[in-house]
Amino acid sequence: MKQVTSLALAALLAGIAVNANAYQAGDWVLRLGATTVAPDEDSDRVVLPTAPATVLPGVSIDNDTQLGIIPMYMLTDNWGVELLAATPFEHDVKVEGVGINAGSVTHLPPTLSMQWYPYGGQRGWQPYVGLGVNYTFIYDEDVDPQLAGALEALLGASEAELSLDDSFGLAAQAGVDIPLSDNWAVNLAVWYIDIDSTAKIRTDVGTVEFDVEIDPWVYNVGIAYRF
Ligand code: NI
Repeated sequence: MKQVTSLALAALLAGIAVNANAYQAGDWVLRLGATTVAPDEDSDRVVLPTAPATVLPGVSIDNDTQLGIIPMYMLTDNWGVELLAATPFEHDVKVEGVGINAGSVTHLPPTLSMQWYPYGGQRGWQPYVGLGVNYTFIYDEDVDPQLAGALEALLGASEAELSLDDSFGLAAQAGVDIPLSDNWAVNLAVWYIDIDSTAKIRTDVGTVEFDVEIDPWVYNVGIAYRF
């Protein structure tokens, strides 16, 4: 019985080694995973129109992790096209220097990339690099009561609204599918996405505008299934 089990295990391992993941033209690969957007933000100063002006060093944006849904199609044995999609990311925004909560923003950053697979058509690990374009939809911006309170105290503002412009930019990426069987693999991937936006805080006594580079590193840890 023990021998049968170890024979079966040997056959299974041999099968994995023989069949594993030779991506070819016409294959679809669906990657699903925990996708983290980690902003590497660089914000302009926020200048409030008090007399004299109140200058705040900028804003910071925290990380968020969502479900990544990442289909890829092999155009040839070595070139694929991939769409990074995910459930919406929500990030808290803080005002630097004074440490108050500014609010939160939600965004979707779909990214379409051309990818090169140096070992496409061959069995084994499938590393890849890619270059792409990103469009980030930023919506559902909320002002935190802490920012609303500060604006009321400093400017006498009784209403405040936060908005951030959408962004269009380039993305670079690298990743690898590590085969578990002919069709299943573990996926590890990283993107750097150029996301530049302009933030506006509109109040009933005036509008404050400043540029924010969000420029996140995006990480995916998940599985890949080849059809
Ligand atoms: Ni940028």
